[in-house]
Order: sequence, then C-alpha cells, then structure tokens
Amino acid sequence: MAISSIDPLLLLGMMRSRRSSRTGFLEGRPVTDEQLTMLLEAARAAPSGGNAQPWEFIVIRDTEMRNRIADLYKHQLRDKLELEKTIRGTTSVSGVGWRNAPVQIVVLGDPRTSLCFPLRTAEDKAESHFFTGLANATLQIMLMAESMGLSTQYVSDSASPYFSLMLKHLLGIPKELRVYHIIPVGYTEVAATPKSRRPLEAMVHHERYDPAKQRSEDYLARFAEEDSIQAKNYNRGGERIVQPET
Ligand SMILES: Cc1cc2nc3c(=O)[nH]c(=O)nc-3n(C[C@H](O)[C@H](O)[C@H](O)COP(=O)(O)O)c2cc1C
Repeated sequence: MAISSIDPLLLLGMMRSRRSSRTGFLEGRPVTDEQLTMLLEAARAAPSGGNAQPWEFIVIRDTEMRNRIADLYKHQLRDKLELEKTIRGTTSVSGVGWRNAPVQIVVLGDPRTSLCFPLRTAEDKAESHFFTGLANATLQIMLMAESMGLSTQYVSDSASPYFSLMLKHLLGIPKELRVYHIIPVGYTEVAATPKSRRPLEAMVHHERYDPAKQRSEDYLARFAEEDSIQAKNYNRGGERIVQPET
C-alpha cells in the first residue's frame, strides 16, 4: 500500500508547472544548503533498475568553475551549430542563459553498477536501465526544485564526447564514470513559457493499440516543425548562440 497523503491534484499541478528555464536566473539569489540537501535527497530516493543507484552528483557553486563550464558548453556547440546551419539552415540553438544559475548539479552515472542486475538483465538491458535510473534521479531533483519555487534546466550536451571529456578533466571525474546531465538550479525573474503537450486521448490506447491514433510521418514532421524545440518560436532564450563568422 502506498503511504503518501499528498493531494494528487497538487502534485499534478506541480508536475504541470515545472518547465525548463533557459534564461533569467538570478545569480544573486542563493540556493541554501538546506534546499540543496532536499534536492539531492529527492534524487537519492529515485527508483533504479536492480536498485543499482548508478548516480553520483557534483554540486558546483564556485562562480569561476560555473563560468568555465558555461564557456565550454558554448565552445562545444560550434560544430553542432555548423551542422544545423548547413543541413537545416537554422542558426540558433539553446543558449547559455543558465550561466547565471548559482548552482550547477552535474549528474554522473557509474555503468559498473550493472553488476547489480541479474545476468540476463545485464546482457539485455544494462544500458537502458542505467539511463532510466539517471533520468529518474534527474526528474526527482527537478520536481523537488519546483516544489520550492526553484527553476531548473536540462543541459544534456554534457554527455557529448568532447564536453564530457573536458568536464571529466576539469572536475576530476574518474574515467569509469559517465557524465549525464548538468542541472542548473536557481531562482528566475519570471516563469518560463509553458510548453504544450499532446492531448491525453491522442496518446492513450484502451485495451489494445488503436491504429487510428498512430502518428503519420506527415504528422510527425509537422509536429517537429511547429510544436517541438525545432519550432521557430520555441523559447530558446538566454544568451543566444549564433554561428561564429568564419
Ligand atoms: C533527455 C532530455 C534532454 C534535454 N536536453 C536539453 C538540452 O540540452 N538543452 C535544453 O535547453 N533543453 C533540454 N531538454 C529540455 C526539453 O527541451 C524540454 O523538457 C521540453 O522542451 C519541454 O519543455 P519543458 O521542460 O519546459 O516542459 C532536455 C530534456 C530531456 C528530457
């Protein structure tokens, strides 16, 4: 039996109000140690395959280090931007608005924790279990932050080869570990723009799969262009990254 007595509508409301804040972080408004402990306790409570708990966290408050990481992020975007510009003709991607967040939490994973899985699971699903555990911990941090009025964002480029290697070097992360996401945390000036979600009836099937609801290629292409982060008016915000002149 579940023992929680939290109002489910309140919880749902909080889940709906969480959003990725890419700009407006107030560097001068600190996140307290008590708040940080709550965020990390929330991560610690996350479920993971085999209870392997693949996660570890580096909490970075130091301004110089945070800026070095933000600069690295900006630098590693250059070839990504070139790809976008050459192939899709767009010149902007998510910026570094999170630079001012007073705390960065670097989420790390240790793939060696697959030892905790039954042998067949380790063979079949070690990787997906690994990432699911890290994703759960990440989201728990974000939801706990939301409950305290703190904003967060996903910085998933930290898992890209160049960026993650540089982060490992900068932060002394052992080679066996993998860098997953960076989560900037802080108060923001204004709430980020809410992002739409597809209607429930479009994604839920009852008793068996309803082929009438399967998304067509055309639908998916239009969705990507109009409703996803590829959409021109999607809030990219923050310190905009533009293709450097060559
Ligand atoms: C696995 C994952 C990776 C993401 N990576 C990034 C990222 O690198 N940069 C970014 O700005 N947003 C990133 N996001 C945030 C999504 O773009 C965002 O969740 C989505 O647009 C919905 O907006 P919302 O979070 O405000 O509801 C990521 C989200 C997930 C779940």
